[in-house]
Amino acid sequence: MRIKDFKLEDYFAKYEFNVKYTLCSSDCESFSVDELLNIEKGSLEDFKKVWLGYTESLGNPILREEISKLYRNINPEEVIVFSGAEEAIFIFMNVLLKKDDHIIVQYPAYQSLYEIANAIGCKVTKWLMDDETDWELDLQFLESNLTQSTKCIVVNFPHNPTGYLPTEDFYKRIINIAKKNNIYVLSDEVYRLLEYSRAERLPPACDLYDKGISIGVMSKSFGLAGLRIGWIASKDRELYEAMASFKNYTTICNSAPSEFFSILALRNKDIIIKRNLEIIKNNLKFLDEFFSKFDKFFTWVRPKAGSVAFPGLLIEQDTEKFCLDLLEKKGVLLMPSTQFNYGTSHFRIGFGRKNLPDALQHFDNFMTENYG
Ligand SMILES: Cc1ncc(COP(=O)(O)O)c(C=O)c1O
Repeated sequence: MRIKDFKLEDYFAKYEFNVKYTLCSSDCESFSVDELLNIEKGSLEDFKKVWLGYTESLGNPILREEISKLYRNINPEEVIVFSGAEEAIFIFMNVLLKKDDHIIVQYPAYQSLYEIANAIGCKVTKWLMDDETDWELDLQFLESNLTQSTKCIVVNFPHNPTGYLPTEDFYKRIINIAKKNNIYVLSDEVYRLLEYSRAERLPPACDLYDKGISIGVMSKSFGLAGLRIGWIASKDRELYEAMASFKNYTTICNSAPSEFFSILALRNKDIIIKRNLEIIKNNLKFLDEFFSKFDKFFTWVRPKAGSVAFPGLLIEQDTEKFCLDLLEKKGVLLMPSTQFNYGTSHFRIGFGRKNLPDALQHFDNFMTENYG
């Protein structure tokens, strides 16, 4: 398989670990091993007993049980654990799609959500979002672009990079269009649980539809990206078996210590999600102030959920140059929209980390010194 470079991940690889402030991360603040073990009494003793042999290919049964509790109608036998959401997306696409199939992808998007399909030889239709309409999606576009060869609709709510979240009613209309046409919905739900209001949380796709494929991960809402634990929950047995078999050619099974920590985190998910939402809500206050202060220079569609947003530049400058200038002068990393193949005038900002107020102060100084 020939596949194009993953622009966003390449950009992170180049800068992430040698800048002072990463202000575009999509994950929440992480934990040290010590902090995580302290959440539950006796867990250090349990950790010492973790066996470091091969693990069960579908995932540790206790972990699959914990994951299944995130859904209403899913049994542990309907969950496969993967190495991050990335492996889940890769395997799903390779199992479902073949050359000349068609998919419709909400866009802008995390690149693997369309690039793997491209590499397989599929036709990809971008379901475009625009900040002029507050990132709202157009259902008519979706319906009128379905063809005989459409296999799958790919969505991601809460959305990276815009922070968009549809209403439950709107979301169910997407699912119903898929049902009516008997096509799959790949629902990337890696930012689920980070809704600012609990009432706005969407039901997972796998609970609503047999061909709804829900992807989850420990990286984003839980802030545990280093564990590299993700999963798919699905009622589609045939697809499930095919994905399980494909995994024998990628990672075979998951890391035992990572499975242990994922179980621990999921058992204590309320504590972890509460802590992460507190960080997010506090950071959003700083962002609201910042974008109101500099409203001549930026557009700010306030995110509805999640840990990222996608402001636009009102300055006559290419976003890549703008971001590099900020990086050189203040050591603050933003993600230009060019890395999403989405024009030259937006950037992603991330607000799941504790050091946001500090990083934003440097961004503020940069604006005052250069545009004040
Ligand atoms: C929407 C979306 N899906 C999947 C992934 C991949 O997640 P992971 O790194 O945990 O595999 C990301 C990571 O940024 C993402 O934003």
